[in-house]
Formats: sequence, C-alpha cells, structure tokens
Amino acid sequence: MAIYEIKGGTPLQGEVTISGAKNAAVAILPAAVLVSGKCRVENVPDISDVHILLDILKDIGAEITEEAPGTFVLDCTNITSTQPKPELVCQMRASYYLMGALLSRFGKAHVALPGGCNFASRPIDQHIKGFRALGAKVEETEDYVNLTTDENGLCGRRVSLDVVSVGATVNIILAATLAPGQTVIENAAKEPHIVDLANFLNTMGARISGAGTDTIKVRGVEQLHGGSYAIIPDQIEAGTYLAAVAAAGGNVLVKNVIPKHMECITSKLQEMGVKINDYDDAIRIRSDGRLHGTTVKTSPYPGFPTDMQAQICVCMAVAEGVSRLTENVYETRFFGYCTELQEMGADILINGKTALVTGRESLHGADVSAHDLRAGAALIIAGLAATGTTLLRNVHFVERGYEHIVEKLTALGASISRLEE
Ligand code: UD1
Repeated sequence: MAIYEIKGGTPLQGEVTISGAKNAAVAILPAAVLVSGKCRVENVPDISDVHILLDILKDIGAEITEEAPGTFVLDCTNITSTQPKPELVCQMRASYYLMGALLSRFGKAHVALPGGCNFASRPIDQHIKGFRALGAKVEETEDYVNLTTDENGLCGRRVSLDVVSVGATVNIILAATLAPGQTVIENAAKEPHIVDLANFLNTMGARISGAGTDTIKVRGVEQLHGGSYAIIPDQIEAGTYLAAVAAAGGNVLVKNVIPKHMECITSKLQEMGVKINDYDDAIRIRSDGRLHGTTVKTSPYPGFPTDMQAQICVCMAVAEGVSRLTENVYETRFFGYCTELQEMGADILINGKTALVTGRESLHGADVSAHDLRAGAALIIAGLAATGTTLLRNVHFVERGYEHIVEKLTALGASISRLEE
C-alpha cells in the first residue's frame, strides 16, 4: 500500500500544467464504441480510472494503441462482446457509460453495477428512465443491468430528467446518438464535460445540439466515422491546485485551463482574499495564506462544484472567521473527510447538509486516510497548509483522478513523497 508523506508549511511557487479532464475522458473513451473506424483521442489523463477503462475496452475487443503519452488511437470496429468484465467494471464509477454506448451500437448490453467513490448513495434510476424512454427493455438485478431492444431497436424520444444528473445526461446522449429520430433531453446537466462529449461525438459525425444548456437535442445518425479530438483541461484538477495555493500560500501560474470553466471557483477564492489573474489559457494565483471566511453552496454547473467541496473546506478551515459550506448534490459527502480534518485541528460542525467551519490559525500534521478521490485531494491540501508531517493513506483513491500529483506538487516546491508501506 502506498502512502504520501507531506511536510507542510512551504508556500507553493512556479507553474503547473493541468491534464485532460477525468470526467470528460471517462465519457469520451466509452463513446468511441459508437465509432466505425479509428478515432484518435489526445490529452487523455494518465490516471487509474482511465487505465481501467482502457482495459475494459480492450477486453471486449477494441484495438487501442498509445501513439504518444496521452494520445490514444481506438478502433472499436471489431468489438465482440456486450458483456464487459464485472471485475473491471466494478472498479470504477463511469464504467456505466458502457451501458449507453453498447446499447446504442448493438441494441443490447449486460453491465455490472459500477464501483468508484461511494461518498453517498448514487442511484442510476434516471439513466434507466432514459434507456426505457428510448425503447430499451431494462432488467435490473442486485449486481447487473441487462439492456435489450426488440426488432425495432431504439428510437429518439423526449426525456425529462427528474434531477440534473451528469451521468444520466451522458448515458442518454450515448444511447441516442445512433437511435433513429430525435431525442430531446430536458433538465440536462450543463457541465463542461457534457459539452466535451457532444463535441467529440459531433466531430465523429453525430448531430447533437444544445450541450451546455438544459435542453440537449440528439438527432440519431446511422453511423459515426473516425476522427481526431483533444479532451478539455480538468476543471477540478485546476481548482484543486488553486485551493492548494490559497490555503498553503504562494504564487503559481496554473497552465492549460479554460478560465471560463473556473469562474465558479476563482470567484469564491477571490472572496476569500486571494489574487487571481486570468489569461487566455492560464490563471495566476497569489495568496499569502491568510484567507477570510465565506459562504459556499454547491450546485450543478455553472454553480460551485460538489467535487470542490472538500478542497474549499480546507481553505475555510484556515481562514479567518466562520464559514458556511452547504452541500446540495451529495448530502453525505462531508463524512468522507471532515473527521480526518478534525484530526488535523480543523473546527467543523456538521448540521445536516451544512458545515460550519471556524477557521484556525493553522492545522497540524496527522496520520489520516483518504476515503474518496476529492477527500484525498483535500487532505493533501490540508497537509501542505499544516505545520508538521501528515501521512495520507489510501492514496489509490487520489490516483484514480489526479495525474502525477506528487511530481506536480514537488515541482511547485512542496515536500511530498510517495512511500510504499
Ligand atoms: C458526476 C461526476 C462526479 C460529480 C457528480 C456531480 C463523473 C464521472 N462523475 O457523477 O465527479 O461529483 O457528477 O457533479 O462525471 N441522481 C439520481 N438518479 C440518477 C442519477 C443521479 O437521483 O439516476 C442524483 C445523485 O444522487 C446526485 C445528483 O443526482 O444527488 C447528481 O448526480 P450525477 O450528476 O448523476 O453524478 P454522477 O454522474 O454520478
């Protein structure tokens, strides 16, 4: 088991380059199943969720070559199986995108229920509702979802989501891409990775409009063709480095970002007292580590992302005054890291979906564990801002979604090492 040893108290200085977006990559790679021919995908992050997904795709018959670091050529022409290996599928969350992709291309799929970060109950009823609306027959067991179609196959329909769901929006787009007629998704998610998926599919010949708004229209096409596409930079990875500089202090140029995607995060950090300068594809952040408390309420894009809740909580834990942090997407998400932060001296009082965080002058190092991906990232930030040494366990969670995080932080002057126990 690997652990990170972090010696805190050093401000971060220099430049960091943000990798391709995890949540876009894990939608776009399964989307390649729909393409007849070769598609080339650039800016694929080197993270364990991507490795698992590539293994799943290879196992069902995709031919995949790594042309250069982060650039993959996928040829899914000869996929033979619609039953991806359950032992791989259950290692990650986004493997459920294979349901929409395989259903769209083959009219059937037999996919185990996904694994991944279990910081809350994560139902998939809206995905199922979408598949059914398009004409799929869905059988659910405790472990599997079995999707079939009759001789008419899928057909475009109107689907109105009961909750704004990234996963359901992706899965319905995938299922609808090759379904004759027009699918209209109402109350769709608007996250940048939804737009990126639609741009990828449109580059390969799909007809998707409205991505980035709450009404997405998919006009089904007979087949997609090959092409080349580069994944957008990761909004949450960039937000994590910004939060790290805010809490630990320093002066860092965060490169390869789309500043527009970062506004919901940078505006909060500015309220807390950090200096932000936006450039075309970079953001400079300067912080003396002395922050003011603030109020944050998470919500779907363009609101403050739930995936930044834990990282901003660390900033609040070292800010002057009392902050109020309300979680509106996954109510139980606080439990993944607040106890660990309290071990490091944070003053956090959780009342339902709101945490009251009373800032402390500093946190202190402790022996803590990551319970999910973003919780792990937050504990790294806490370790960087704290006095003394922090040992972070369960770092496999962090490595699911952050490319080369130890190397990137080391290049910024942090004292962080990966040790094998
Ligand atoms: C995606 C992101 C995850 C992020 C989350 C919210 C990926 C791979 N993961 O997860 O990092 O934290 O969006 O931004 O992109 N819901 C239902 N029924 C459903 C689906 C969702 O009730 O069928 C609820 C969920 O319980 C949650 C809310 O809808 O309260 C949003 O979930 P959703 O957007 O679907 O999250 P994921 O796609 O799983």
